[in-house]
Amino acid sequence: MAHLESRKHISPASGFPITLHPNFNPKIKDHVPPEPFRGLVNPPIDRAFFADPEKKALFSVAKPVDLTESLGTVLENVQLSQLNEQQLDELALLVTERGVVFFRDQDLTTEKQVELFQHYGDLDKHPAQKFVNIHGSREDHRELLNYTPWPSGEFHADTSFEINPPSYSLLRMEEHPDVGGDTAWVSQYGLYDALSDAYKKFLDGLHAVHTSRLQYDTILDLWNVGPNRPPIDTHHPAVRTHPVTGLKALNVNTGFVTGFAELKKLESDKLLDFLAHHIHSADDHYVRWKWTVGSVAMWDNRCTVHRVIPGRYKGNRRGVRTTVFGEKPYLDPASESRESASYAKERKVMLDSRSSISVINVGF
Ligand SMILES: [Fe+2]
Repeated sequence: MAHLESRKHISPASGFPITLHPNFNPKIKDHVPPEPFRGLVNPPIDRAFFADPEKKALFSVAKPVDLTESLGTVLENVQLSQLNEQQLDELALLVTERGVVFFRDQDLTTEKQVELFQHYGDLDKHPAQKFVNIHGSREDHRELLNYTPWPSGEFHADTSFEINPPSYSLLRMEEHPDVGGDTAWVSQYGLYDALSDAYKKFLDGLHAVHTSRLQYDTILDLWNVGPNRPPIDTHHPAVRTHPVTGLKALNVNTGFVTGFAELKKLESDKLLDFLAHHIHSADDHYVRWKWTVGSVAMWDNRCTVHRVIPGRYKGNRRGVRTTVFGEKPYLDPASESRESASYAKERKVMLDSRSSISVINVGF
């Protein structure tokens, strides 16, 4: 059980701990973040723009196996460490389309992982610390919320509260229990598509409040690690346009979003309640990955959310994650949802084939 400061403050009436505001928790109150606030950055051009749309170089060495219709593809028979720059660009494009791409039995080292990921942009870490060690947790996330404000087990896009949230993340597992510690991803393209037209229009006009404040007020107590930078609130479009695919994706997650800038508090709370249900019930836009040592997942935080499935697994869970900065999220009002774009594409193919049939008919 996590050692939380608030567990020490027991109510004489019930014998259970009382909520302790972070400002009265000396560990949090006295913490001075070592780094300053981080402003807007200009990331380099997304490598997916340089890819062959058919991904011929990548698929000449790797066999893609889709795990669900909506998202998640395993690339078989390939070592990431052997991919050339062209194949890495095509991998980025595949990740933007499929949300998350998996690999098994990889020979990648941390050094090679960092080198490989630098191909995709500027690593989202201090130069001296280019990756994050991921451990997972055996805590009861539901019980922890009695004492800490941050829902640490919830769906999130990595550090979505940043002005430039990460685009791509890659996690490679170095140690893992035989069972438990799975990660689930949900497609934000799919979540947007699953809304009614009226709700789509409503959300198109909103900004979601992504905050690091709740995490800031929690992790020193929960993980014994101080936050690097002061807390930040950003107002990102509740629906964003993916710069590579041009598709609309919901940009709300239950891990970091606390409300909507244009709404009143109670309206925000109800909408967040609905979206929490929407995210958690989207079985048709969900994929769950069972890790083994040497497995790798590369995902796009701009069109997916993810979470570790809580559990009581035995043994250690340890992975190395690298991320790169993405663009500042934006909504292009002319962009389409994935479903309407693919409907338009199918219709075009149908019309084209009709016109070619009529040409053949004329010819005969
Ligand atoms: Fe994450």
